[in-house]
Amino acid sequence: TRENERGLRTPIVAVLGHVDHGKTSLLDKIRGSTVIEGEAGAITQHIGATAIPLDVVSKVAGSLIDPSDFDLPGLLFIDTPGHHSFTTLRSRGGALADIAILVVDVNDGFQPQTLEAINILKQSQTPFVVAANKIDTIPGWKPNEDAPVQQTKEAQSDRVQSALDEQLYEIIGELSDEGFSADMYWRVQDFRGNIGVVPVSAETGEGVPDLLTVLMGLAQRYMKEDMAIDVTGPGAGTVLEVKEEKGFGTTLDVVLYDGTIREDETIVVGGLDDPIVTDVRAILKPRPLAEIRTEDRFEKVDEIAAASGVKIAAPDLDDAMAGAPVRVVRDRDIEEVITEVRAELSEIEVETQEQGVVVKADTLGSLEAIANAMDEAEIPIMRAEVGDVAPRDISVASTASEDTHKTILAFNVDVLADAEKQAEDSDVKLFESGVIYRLIEEYEEYVEELER
Ligand code: GTP
Ligand code: MG
Repeated sequence: TRENERGLRTPIVAVLGHVDHGKTSLLDKIRGSTVIEGEAGAITQHIGATAIPLDVVSKVAGSLIDPSDFDLPGLLFIDTPGHHSFTTLRSRGGALADIAILVVDVNDGFQPQTLEAINILKQSQTPFVVAANKIDTIPGWKPNEDAPVQQTKEAQSDRVQSALDEQLYEIIGELSDEGFSADMYWRVQDFRGNIGVVPVSAETGEGVPDLLTVLMGLAQRYMKEDMAIDVTGPGAGTVLEVKEEKGFGTTLDVVLYDGTIREDETIVVGGLDDPIVTDVRAILKPRPLAEIRTEDRFEKVDEIAAASGVKIAAPDLDDAMAGAPVRVVRDRDIEEVITEVRAELSEIEVETQEQGVVVKADTLGSLEAIANAMDEAEIPIMRAEVGDVAPRDISVASTASEDTHKTILAFNVDVLADAEKQAEDSDVKLFESGVIYRLIEEYEEYVEELER
C-alpha cells in the first residue's frame, strides 16, 4: 500500500425524525429500489449502515442526475438505532453525520422529536434536507411508483395538488419558526442557506429519486473538501453501540470516518474511567443478504476503510461507551493517541456538582445535550454517565440530601429490573423519556409539586 494516499470518502447521511414518521421505511425503500436498479452485490450492507454507490444512486435518480458531475463514491446511510440519538454522535468535535435527512410526516407536521432533532442539527451545524413523507396518503392521491416528485405531483388533480401544497407550506412555516429559511427543494439555489423540502413517499417511492439527487448534490457541492482523507492512514471512528455478541464477547459497532482499521492492530477507545487500549481480534461485516441463512451472521475481513460501519471484536471492551472515539495507533506513539482520545473525551465531559440529580443517557453526545439543557434550566447534576440505570445509580441518588435531588433522569436507556425495585424501596424518583425537554419538564413539575 502507498503512503498517505488521498482519496474521497463516502459522506455519512443520518436519517432522523419523530417516531413512526417513516425513517426505516424510507431507508428500506432506498435499499429496495437500489437493489432492483443495481447489479447484484452493488449495495453493501454495513453494521448499522447501508452504502449506496454513485452508479446506483444515479440509476435510481434517472434523468435527475448526471453521474459525471460527481466524484464522491456514493452515500452511506446510517439507520438510527431505535431512537434519534444518532443526532448526538460526534467525530473530532463535529457531528458524525455529514448530512442529515429529517423525515416529517406530511399529515402530522412537526412533533416533539422533530423539534429535538432540529435543535441538535442547529447546534452541530449539520446541513440537512427535509423529507416530507407519506405524500401517498393525501386523500385522492394517484401513485406513480418511483417517479420524480414534480412529475407525479403534476399528474394529480388540482384538489390533491393544493391539499399537498397546504401541508408542505405548513412544514415550511414550522421550519421558519425554528429560524430556517426553507422552500420546495426545486426552488432552492443555495442549500447551505436554505432548507430544501422534498415531498416523498416511502411506500410508493415517489420523490425518492429527488431525495437522492438533492443529497448527492449537497454533498458534492459543499462537502467535497471534508471528504478528502488519507484513505490508508490510521483509522478514526465513533462507537455507535457496545454489544454482547455470541462467540465474540463484548463488541463495538463503529462508524469509521477516517483511514483504515486492520486485524491485530492496537486501538484506543474511550471508556467509562480511562481510555481502553486493546488489540483488534476481528473486524466483522454482515454477511451478504444471499447468505443470511448460514449460521454465522458475520464475515471476518482483514481490513476496512472509511466511511463504513463495522463490528470490532477485542478484549476488555466492557467499559467502552457509545459515542466515544476509537483510534487506530499503527505507527504512532501510543501515549500520544491516548492523550488525543482523553482530550476528546474531556471536551464532552459534563460538569458535576456536590449536590444534584443523577443523569443516565445512551451516548456521550446525548449526555452532553442533556447537560446543556439542564444547565439552561439551572438544574444541578451530581453524576452523569452513559449506560442503563443500574442499582449503583439508585444508591448514588439516594445519598442526596434534598428530596428534589433524589432523582434519576434517564434518556433513551433501560432501567435494570433490580434497579427499579431498589428505586421504589429507597424513594428515588425515576424519570424516563426519549425527548430531552420532556425529561426536564417532568422533573420541573415534580419539583414544583414537592415544594407546594
Ligand atoms: P420509529 O423507528 O419507530 O421511530 O419509526 P420510523 O420513523 O422508522 O417509521 P417506520 O418506517 O417504521 O414507519 C411507521 C409506519 O408508517 C409504518 O406502518 C409504515 O408502513 C408507515 N409508512 C412509512 N412511510 C410511509 C409512506 O410514505 N406512506 C404510507 N402510506 N405509509 C408509510
Ligand atoms: Mg424505525
